[in-house]
Amino acid sequence: MSRTFFAWVLLICTSLGAHAATLDPSKDYHSQSNPHQIKVTHFALDLNVDFKKRELAGHVVYDFERKDRNARELLLDTRDITVIATSVRVDGKWQKTGFKLEAADPALGSALRIAVPEKAEQVKVQYRTSPAASGLQWLQPEQTASKKHPFLFTQAQAIHARSFIPSQDTPQVRTTYDAILRTPKNLRAVMSAENTPNAAKTGTYQFHMPQAIPSYLIALAVGDLDFKAMGDRTGVYAEPALLDAAVAEFEDTESMLIATEKAYGPYSWGRYDLLILPPSFPFGGMENPRLSFITPTVIAGDKSLVSLIAHELAHSWSGNTVTNATWRDLWLNEGHTTYLTYRIMEIIYGTDRFNMESVLGYQDLTADLADLPANYQHLAIDLRGKDPDDAFSDVPYEKGALFLKEIEQRIGRAAFDAYLKQYFADYAFKSLSTEDWLAYAQTHLIAKHPSALSLDRFKAWIYAPGLPADHPLAESDAFTKIDRIHTDWLAGAIPATAIDTKGWTVHQWLYFLNNLPEQLSPEQMSALDSAFNLTASTNNEIAHSWLLMAIRNQYQPAYARLETYLVSIGRRKLITPLYRALMESQQGQAFARKVYAEARPGYHPLAQGTMDAIVNAK
Ligand code: BES
Ligand code: ZN
Repeated sequence: MSRTFFAWVLLICTSLGAHAATLDPSKDYHSQSNPHQIKVTHFALDLNVDFKKRELAGHVVYDFERKDRNARELLLDTRDITVIATSVRVDGKWQKTGFKLEAADPALGSALRIAVPEKAEQVKVQYRTSPAASGLQWLQPEQTASKKHPFLFTQAQAIHARSFIPSQDTPQVRTTYDAILRTPKNLRAVMSAENTPNAAKTGTYQFHMPQAIPSYLIALAVGDLDFKAMGDRTGVYAEPALLDAAVAEFEDTESMLIATEKAYGPYSWGRYDLLILPPSFPFGGMENPRLSFITPTVIAGDKSLVSLIAHELAHSWSGNTVTNATWRDLWLNEGHTTYLTYRIMEIIYGTDRFNMESVLGYQDLTADLADLPANYQHLAIDLRGKDPDDAFSDVPYEKGALFLKEIEQRIGRAAFDAYLKQYFADYAFKSLSTEDWLAYAQTHLIAKHPSALSLDRFKAWIYAPGLPADHPLAESDAFTKIDRIHTDWLAGAIPATAIDTKGWTVHQWLYFLNNLPEQLSPEQMSALDSAFNLTASTNNEIAHSWLLMAIRNQYQPAYARLETYLVSIGRRKLITPLYRALMESQQGQAFARKVYAEARPGYHPLAQGTMDAIVNAK
């Protein structure tokens, strides 16, 4: 803990008000484990993957460091896990040891207490997961591309690792690991570790992760997976039917990796591969180290949605190498990553695309800010007593990135890039809180550029709602053109058929659709659809924007597509706004309930939770 800790507590009390009397920024309120007494340093997993029972079962052996030499108990986070037995190794021999699984806290799960006698060298837990584990999705063959084989994947961030591995489930604890996964013989297992591309499908897979990572980055997947290289250090794992399309879509990954290293320092993780998941994956991507997990919904055929890859790759620096200390500090991971994403996209695809993506990101942010309560508009969000999943929005991403863009504009790109490179080096393989970040920024940014930067301004970005006055704005010439088209078409000056869309990029289409008025006439909706065939768009982002308009205007010809979309895609960002919009009208509610009944069994537990809350609210 830093020397300035008490000063920070004071500062936070003042900024949050009296009710938050003692928020300790270095404490992770989302873990019940005890790393300050006994800290796990390495674990070895041996798990059997049982698709029939929908269960992982086996054991895990922990190495640990005793931080407090009088500590006699190891506390691990678990959720819905059945503990079968616990033992400790003393003088090289395993012996039973006592354990107690505490009653479950609804947000945090059950603390597992294990007796660790003075002489214990290692601890072992034999366990199995529940079919309802929040961090696992077990897929039926019908939910995959081939429809022939089952599929399993994990999603640990933020606090779901505990549902498949008893762990000190806090981003403040980093461990190396080894693992053996035993699967049906015709399937392949991969992990966020050293994988063996093209290993024979034997049904037994061994992994080693030499870099220490926090629990939220532990990941595994099992399915009918093949591998294809894209470059020296990059490649794709996917179901055979998707592999070539994915390799073509993401072929710039190697260049992105090289460009990011050049700007921000060496890539620390050996290989960088992508795993393409089935469409029920609830996120766009997840930065599992060495192996980002990616939704197939971004395989558009024209690289239009590959900023997702730049984003997950950028996490190799901001997030995986330098990690947020608690979920209150998520903006450190996501804000820096979003800033880096824009920069990588500019290097690889040029300034026009950079400008367009910046404007779209800024518009997403202002839309979110309009809907969020003030305390969720801060960069550092007080999540005590809350599920970190519930605070998810564009704020840590786009507001965080805009804050960093302002610093860049005020001190210059070269100076800011040099600062970031140093920051990634100084905090490599460490975690830091917002207040640690601010103390570091005071020395390395504010003190060096006192006429350009001020602590008050930094605090306004971090601890106040909304955006500070005179924040940077994003602009794109390619979009200004579209503003004129909007005006002309809406005024009836030109018909839809006269809109010259030749050469429009996906971003221009998104800007065009997202910035039309919410209410259009039935004639206007059909005119757009017949001119541009929007209901049949194969780009999942364009389809999303159009379907949202269709719902708001009860445009029936798009409802069959809407149903297919909602049943086949489980990515929350794409489907949540659609269900929300449906629930705004009586007719929409009936449709939402009918489609959700059909779609729900295919959704991930997280997506089920989100949609349950929306569809059952009225
Ligand atoms: N790490 C996040 C996903 C995440 C965040 C999971 C918080 C659980 C809690 C990942 O890197 C991410 O940000 N994904 C975005 C994509 C992105 C391009 C904004 C997503 O899935 O939408
Ligand atoms: Zn991210």
